[in-house]
Amino acid sequence: MIRQPPLTAIPADLVSASDYERYALERLDSHALAYLQGGAGDELTCAANLQAWQELAIVPRMLRDLRGGHTRCQLLGDELQHPLLLAPVAYQKLFHPEAEVGSALAAGVMGGAAVLSCFASTALEQVAAAASGPLWFQLYWQGCGERTLALVRRAEQSGYRALVLTVDAPVSGIRNREQRAGFQLPAGIEAVNISSPALVPELAADDSAVFDGLMAVAPQWGDVEWLCRQTTLPVLLKGLLHADDARRGMRAGAAGIIVSNHGGRVLDSQWPALKALRGIRAAVGAGVPVLVDGGIRRGTDVFKALAMGASAVLIGRSYIHALAAAGALGVAHLLRSLREELEVTMALCGCRTLDDITAGAVRRSDDWS
Ligand code: FNR
Ligand code: LAC
Repeated sequence: MIRQPPLTAIPADLVSASDYERYALERLDSHALAYLQGGAGDELTCAANLQAWQELAIVPRMLRDLRGGHTRCQLLGDELQHPLLLAPVAYQKLFHPEAEVGSALAAGVMGGAAVLSCFASTALEQVAAAASGPLWFQLYWQGCGERTLALVRRAEQSGYRALVLTVDAPVSGIRNREQRAGFQLPAGIEAVNISSPALVPELAADDSAVFDGLMAVAPQWGDVEWLCRQTTLPVLLKGLLHADDARRGMRAGAAGIIVSNHGGRVLDSQWPALKALRGIRAAVGAGVPVLVDGGIRRGTDVFKALAMGASAVLIGRSYIHALAAAGALGVAHLLRSLREELEVTMALCGCRTLDDITAGAVRRSDDWS
């Protein structure tokens, strides 16, 4: 839980995402930190996600006319003031009492959008009632039929603008950091929007808990087609790294793709999403919303993502650090800092709008040509 009271004002030495991480490390206990900071196995994917942004360097252009420039973008019919969305992060009451309401408030106030986790610790209706900006609802598959449809209808009726089906975690990752810390959800913090645990078949003695248990109820491509037919909301698939899966997803009826390895929390030793981005953009073509997440901590990272073909990005741990430090105020301040970093990067690179940020603005850092 929370070890030190959150801040009620932003101190002067708190100016970047890494500062928020420092504050969060002081404020959260070892259980919450193991859940938040950790990843699968040896956390190689987590490290690779951070490293990937450094393997791409910016090649700026000078002396262009940038008057009237801005960071606005259109996403699924909504105009956002900047291309930074809050990623779905479960159980936010672990980090600050304002939890999911605080995050959604901050996203809206800053002219952006937020994705509410299926495992939110606050009712999806309560978050929608407090939010002023667009919200998307992230869905973990609850099976073909009533259980999934009940969540979809609640999201539709509460005004959520899109559904995000997360497909990269049909089985939980093996998170050694959580295991070592003995992480368990404290009493009173739970996935309040889910009525009962997933329906996993009873196992016989020699059955595999993975293949005969969770994988027996995991979604498949036909289920994605089914889901897309059940709702008028756009459905995005979160957690793809392979261009063929992105193509298949678009054929199944998806409205967009979130290129992601779940922040390194599910399968270790994965390809960083940034490196998969260009191939997926090429596979689905221009005009389709393609978002990316994993290790984004700076406005320059956002710039690089857009140069490699992303329509927008999601941030995960960094806004939870800000939430832990100072609640909605912290998240809003972080979003403003990242947007300012993006604006300054664009101005220094000769880009007036997000459309001006193209592949020519970046090179691999080891390119000596
Ligand atoms: C997540 N993520 C996640 N994703 C999802 O689809 N549903 C979820 O409920 C959660 N829950 C969750 C909890 C915590 C504590 C973290 C850190 C992450 C993954 C998240 O949406 C996103 O993909 C990553 O966090 C992006 O990487 P960074 O920005 O954290 O490096
Ligand atoms: C996680 C799950 C909830 O990453 O997606 O913890």
